[in-house]
Amino acid sequence: MNIREVQNEIIRLKKENDICILAHSYQSHDIIEIADFTGDSYALSKLAAKVPNKTVIMCGVRFMAETVKMLSPEKKVILSCPQAGCPMAEQMDKELIEGIKPQFEGYTVVAYINTTAELKTVCDVCVTSSSAVKIVKAIDNNNILFIPDCNLGAYVAKQVPEKNIRFLQGGCPVHAAVTKKHVETAKALHPDAEFLVHPECRPEVTAAADYIGSTSGIMDYAKSSDKKEFIIGTENSISAHLQYECPDKKFYPLSKELICPNMKATTLVDVLDCVKGQGGEEIEMSAEMIASARKCIDKMIELGG
Ligand code: 13P
Ligand code: SF4
Repeated sequence: MNIREVQNEIIRLKKENDICILAHSYQSHDIIEIADFTGDSYALSKLAAKVPNKTVIMCGVRFMAETVKMLSPEKKVILSCPQAGCPMAEQMDKELIEGIKPQFEGYTVVAYINTTAELKTVCDVCVTSSSAVKIVKAIDNNNILFIPDCNLGAYVAKQVPEKNIRFLQGGCPVHAAVTKKHVETAKALHPDAEFLVHPECRPEVTAAADYIGSTSGIMDYAKSSDKKEFIIGTENSISAHLQYECPDKKFYPLSKELICPNMKATTLVDVLDCVKGQGGEEIEMSAEMIASARKCIDKMIELGG
């Protein structure tokens, strides 16, 4: 089968088997084309609670599939590629946060959604890159412990200077690998380009940006801008998707190393196997774990609107 035939077979089988396919924006173009819904982590979380189908296939990484399961526990939720984890989500565990809490008495623990379900059980509220500023502002406490991404935390702290925001050292290894040198090189090569960047990048990188936002925020900004050239400071699939959608504009990846191997682990054939009922991994979580971990996701949706 060629790519189009595989895609057509996926579309036929997902309808026949009442399956919804969710794909994060970092997935490759061939997967985005067959997804029912695509978007950033916040949009996918909100959708997860609403899709009517009895099975959901999550093309993304493990914490995203766990989020879908927590919000729709009655559904069968399948992670399309069982190896696709998020290294940031594995950086901190429940024991670490429980151990550190006595030093942060009276603080609200804010967890980036890129965390395990188990860690979420000891946090107060989740955020995503697109909702973090709004949610931290809305929290009824001036003392915030923000985990695990200290780059996103530093970005939020800049936008919400009235609050006391403390961090633990963690973050996305893909975005954190980008340096000021990459920015200087890209800007020298493309002096007329606007620079759009994800807040998982280091402060020295975001400081040089014309726009800072989530994957969807970056895409929306670039599509509606009058400018014709853009340097894209996030996973390189976003430059590729934008180039497809806006052929009259030019998109330059900030660095050729901005590739997340976990987000790229899912293939179209993995998705085909999933819709056939032969592949992926069904997410299993106990009712207690779901009840305990989803409280901070519900809080995110309540405060994030
Ligand atoms: P967003 O889609 O929320 O921007 O998140 C980016 C990311 O790194 C997801 O793992
Ligand atoms: Fe995790 Fe970073 Fe990959 Fe997102 S881009 S899944 S935060 S490693």
